[in-house]
Amino acid sequence: MKYLVFETKKEASKEAYKILKSLINENSTLGLATGSTPTDLYEEMIKDHKEGNFSYKNIKSYNLDEYVGISYDHPESYHKFMETNLFDHIDIEKENTHVPDASAEDLEDALKSYQEALNNANIDVQLLGVGSNGHIGFNEPGTPFDTGVHIVDLKQETIEANSRFFNNDINLVPKQAVTMGINDIMKAKHIILLAFGKEKQAAIKNLIDSDIIDESIPCTVLKKHPSVYVLVDKEADFRN
Ligand code: F6R
Repeated sequence: MKYLVFETKKEASKEAYKILKSLINENSTLGLATGSTPTDLYEEMIKDHKEGNFSYKNIKSYNLDEYVGISYDHPESYHKFMETNLFDHIDIEKENTHVPDASAEDLEDALKSYQEALNNANIDVQLLGVGSNGHIGFNEPGTPFDTGVHIVDLKQETIEANSRFFNNDINLVPKQAVTMGINDIMKAKHIILLAFGKEKQAAIKNLIDSDIIDESIPCTVLKKHPSVYVLVDKEADFRN
């Protein structure tokens, strides 16, 4: 595991983009994340694309998760997030992008389809944020490491943390999500995890500065992965 600390989210994201670019080519498959963490990295990707340095024409992408109970058009749905923050600004083909379908009438069937798609996806690089409770994707504490795509009941701390995207009203935050499982995440060839802000410090300490590998802190599973890059700002650094 490589651990890199930067002054700011912006600096960490610039380096994360350099690392990402060194690990992929224009035919690669990306595992993508949402939330506040990857936004500057997505800006770097857009900037480089607009400068003519990288085309997404043949890139495929698979997102980690999506909320259950809000429509795709909801401004905080992860479908919408990906369009607004990345897909609308690069030349990726819509049919090559995949975000779990959490609005399907038959949700079980939608989970099965996403699992099948992931089983054939061969993700080259998976981008991850981390929850303050150590969740990756929406695999909350206690999720077995061998889990695949599933519906999750979001933990209270996740609902509270994400209320900042929903007018700070926890009643507006979806209570469930569909997520890739930890087993799916671990199949990626390389993983880049970003973490910014003090509330991520404990998760980073458990990941970088402990021997714990335990389902109660989902991110600790990454210690078993052969190629992980962890980039943080100084607030998330466990030594602070
Ligand atoms: C998002 C995801 C989550 C977030 C995590 C941190 O697709 O899978 O694990 O990465 O909840 O969220 P932010 O980045 O908003 O702090």
